[in-house]
Amino acid sequence: MQYRNFGKLGWKPSALGFGVMRLPVLDNLPARIDESQASSMLHYAIDQGVNYLDTAYPYHRGQSEVFLGEALKGGYREKVKLATKLPSWMIETSTDFDRYFFEQLEKLQTDHIDFYLLHALKREWWDNLFQLGVLEWAEKKIAEGKIGYLGFSFHDTYPVFKDIVDAYDGWSFCQIQYNYMDIKYQAGKRGLKYAAEKGLGVVIMEPLRGGLLAKNPPPPAVAKHYDGMDVKRTPTDWALQWLWNQPEVSVVLSGMSTMAHVQENVESANQSGIGALREADHEFIVKIQRAYKDITPIPCTNCRYCVPCPGGIDIPTVFRIFNDTVMFEDLKHGKSQYHFLSEEHRADNCVECGSCEEKCPQGIAVIEWLKEAHAMLEDTNPRAEENAI
Ligand SMILES: NC(=O)c1ccc[n+]([C@@H]2O[C@H](COP(=O)([O-])OP(=O)(O)OC[C@H]3O[C@@H](n4cnc5c(N)ncnc54)[C@H](OP(=O)(O)O)[C@@H]3O)[C@@H](O)[C@H]2O)c1
Repeated sequence: MQYRNFGKLGWKPSALGFGVMRLPVLDNLPARIDESQASSMLHYAIDQGVNYLDTAYPYHRGQSEVFLGEALKGGYREKVKLATKLPSWMIETSTDFDRYFFEQLEKLQTDHIDFYLLHALKREWWDNLFQLGVLEWAEKKIAEGKIGYLGFSFHDTYPVFKDIVDAYDGWSFCQIQYNYMDIKYQAGKRGLKYAAEKGLGVVIMEPLRGGLLAKNPPPPAVAKHYDGMDVKRTPTDWALQWLWNQPEVSVVLSGMSTMAHVQENVESANQSGIGALREADHEFIVKIQRAYKDITPIPCTNCRYCVPCPGGIDIPTVFRIFNDTVMFEDLKHGKSQYHFLSEEHRADNCVECGSCEEKCPQGIAVIEWLKEAHAMLEDTNPRAEENAI
């Protein structure tokens, strides 16, 4: 295993971290983790040197933490750093901090959390937690030895990310969505560099864009570039190596759902290194990015000028899900993502006022695309996994 830096902390994380959000399940039910298979995968990863595990209160309908509590018995707990998260959106009063935290300790069968995150921060949830005194609460827990380090995971725009980083000197780390197709999405590359400059460890989530970048073979327009490449790697390996190549990246989480995933990703991590990619490799990745963009139906750049929408629709997110569905030819994944979007943010709330079209710098026919997206993505039968928080 390769080990990397983690911001200002002297501790070295494994290049690969285990995201405990997409474990194998029984009967396609997220809450019914296949404990035998999942334990084997987890133990294999730890035996191979993985030392960072990432879970959260809602993963597997609350059962991810329970599973880890059992699976880490027999000496495994001591071999890893455990990260879990405060469910930001469920916090109503300051007494909720302790309520969820102690429930998590009990489920995880541990007396401390090494890395504790405020989960999936966006402006609204951060403002609420801040006003309720989450930082003072966390500092007390750190002083008592119940929390090792405080961080946050993030799902909003770069300016919000910067505000949160700047709001508190005590952050030790953050967790952002980042992969070679999301360089300008949410915190993006700017956020990665900013956080790293400030001395934060940066944990990467959705390195394969939730599995879409792992598609093998990729769509034909993308696959043709693989044929001309002198170095042969799987799409997953390319995506992971692209991340590990960057010095600001501390640990890359992968939500592995089979033993084969674990084995392949451990092997990739073993061969990873900062600056290991050649100029030709970077050129190849650029070709892949362009090929994906060329088959993107809606030229939305996620500038978000179109929102707020009077009908409440999260237009950029609807377009992103639709684009992904077409680009990666994965209707099941698209429907699942659309299902998890709250009803008030879905495309069928369009009142055709046209204010979005007036504001869109790309001149996108928003109203028509919303209709098309909803027609394709509605009536879901979501797959048995958690959503992207
Ligand atoms: N804090 C937050 O808000 C937040 C949000 C999202 C994620 N996370 C954390 O970050 C972790 C990583 O994110 P993610 O799970 O979305 O990661 P990801 O690596 O982008 O996607 C995981 C999926 O990729 C596919 N995959 C992984 N390894 C593969 C391999 N070797 N070959 C083929 N396919 C492979 C699998 O898809 P299939 O199952 O379809 O085969 C797997 O379910 C999560 O597990 C979770 O712990 C946190």
